[in-house]
Amino acid sequence: MTTKSSTMFNVAEAALELSSDVNSERRKPHPLVLVIFGATGDLASRKILPAICHLAVRKELPDEFAIVGAASSEIDDEGFKKIVYEATKDIDDPEGIWANYLKRFRYISGDYMSSDTFARLEQVLSEVDTECKTNGNRVYYLATIPKLFSVVANGLKTVGCNKAKTKDTFVRLVVEKPFGVDLESAKSLDQDLHKAFSEDQIFRIDHYMGKETVQNVLALRFANAIFEPIWNRRYVDHIQITVAETLGVEHRGAFYETAGALRDIVQNHVMQVLSLTLMEPPASMEAGGIRDEKVKLLKAVEIGDIDEQVNTTVRAQYASGEIDGQKVIGYRQEDGVSPTSETETYIATRLYVDNWRWAGVPIYIRTGKRLQKRITEVSMVFQRPPHLPFAGRLSRDLRADVLSLRIQPDEGISLSFGAKIPGPSFKVKTVSMNFSYSEAFQEVAVDAYERLLHDAMVGDPMLFIRTDEVEQAWKIVAPIQASFAQGEPPLAKYPSGTFGPIEAERLIQASGRQWQNL
Ligand code: BG6
Repeated sequence: MTTKSSTMFNVAEAALELSSDVNSERRKPHPLVLVIFGATGDLASRKILPAICHLAVRKELPDEFAIVGAASSEIDDEGFKKIVYEATKDIDDPEGIWANYLKRFRYISGDYMSSDTFARLEQVLSEVDTECKTNGNRVYYLATIPKLFSVVANGLKTVGCNKAKTKDTFVRLVVEKPFGVDLESAKSLDQDLHKAFSEDQIFRIDHYMGKETVQNVLALRFANAIFEPIWNRRYVDHIQITVAETLGVEHRGAFYETAGALRDIVQNHVMQVLSLTLMEPPASMEAGGIRDEKVKLLKAVEIGDIDEQVNTTVRAQYASGEIDGQKVIGYRQEDGVSPTSETETYIATRLYVDNWRWAGVPIYIRTGKRLQKRITEVSMVFQRPPHLPFAGRLSRDLRADVLSLRIQPDEGISLSFGAKIPGPSFKVKTVSMNFSYSEAFQEVAVDAYERLLHDAMVGDPMLFIRTDEVEQAWKIVAPIQASFAQGEPPLAKYPSGTFGPIEAERLIQASGRQWQNL
């Protein structure tokens, strides 16, 4: 039996306004120029340009707005406008708002190593300021390959484009993940960025933070009184965080070879979900308060030694198989991937948070590509009742109560618990109640990039990652990185289209627990 109820959780009524301007409509950014480095690349076309276009047609951009694209491709303004047009042509623009903006877009082609590129950029920016009245305000978006992040930041500094010209104007830098490949490189990237930009100018994007349902974790926890008393070690037996994807590495084989699931998903997306779910309540929904609590939580995550980590981590790689009835190739056959690659496309591990609230509660994490189903969720698995007054056979089908926060797809929350099966005997079994986002709300959730770009343009840092968060997340995964570097644990295999390797089942079964059925 499944009881559908969208009224069970009062999330709808109690939804929190998660912006600095609590309870107000979304603010329009001040006049500005958005400069996209890597403007002809995949990220710009797939995510950034469509997100900006959506904001434009919803009238959430100021009239005084323009984009300047920069990249090494030798095209001119018209060539760039064509790229923008192609990336956004499917978005409805009945009033021609986007088409109007598009006319003003400019492009700089050049080598980021050359100061001439930045001198020309500065020139174009001042022309745009005059034409579009953008007032010297800038948001620079680093959508280049990561090794160019420092180069671009330095280039901007050499021509003085890193600083606001007056106290009423702003200059911000948006940085895409990955923020380094380990703790050392993250620190060194930060040092480089900080030579040109102060921390409050830097907006590090983890697109998971822009997902409505990730933010809803905060609403569930802090807009309701009923969850707080049970959100701790006294009631929670263990926690599971799952990020399962059906996609393989697509056309990103060469990049993925340098990343693997640990760096690609665990160090960033999983750590964000983990910290929001387990952190202490902040005093207010203000950026500093939330980010402080996230860091405190990450600092409490136990950092095991390498040997311990080997015993509680599984790494694996997808072999060929079938997804939705379609045959798919194995990871080692993908373009850009070595036929002897040892890169993990799946990881399962166990962590502990050493603080008063969570001491002794294991947190099981699993993420992988080419799994049977796409699903991201957090499950709080509660302890069994201390005593079951039913005979064993009557409660055979009763599992532990579970509260699941489904981040995607079918965003929502479900609670499974025991209920009596109708009939003469007192048989109990597990049933579930579901809250579905799409059933409860008419509003369409905005895409994560739209939300984050908007926040960067208005200068709201709450959903962006602070440097201390990045470093702490690298510290947590460091022992796992070190064990992988030593070839431990041995790389397991799983056929595409399954739920991962058998070793991951053994990992959780060793403590008498089981992965939640997806
Ligand atoms: C990205 C990773 O950060 O997140 C990708 O680099 C992954 O490998 C993606 O596929 C998953 O994002 P989403 O929003 O589809 O869960």
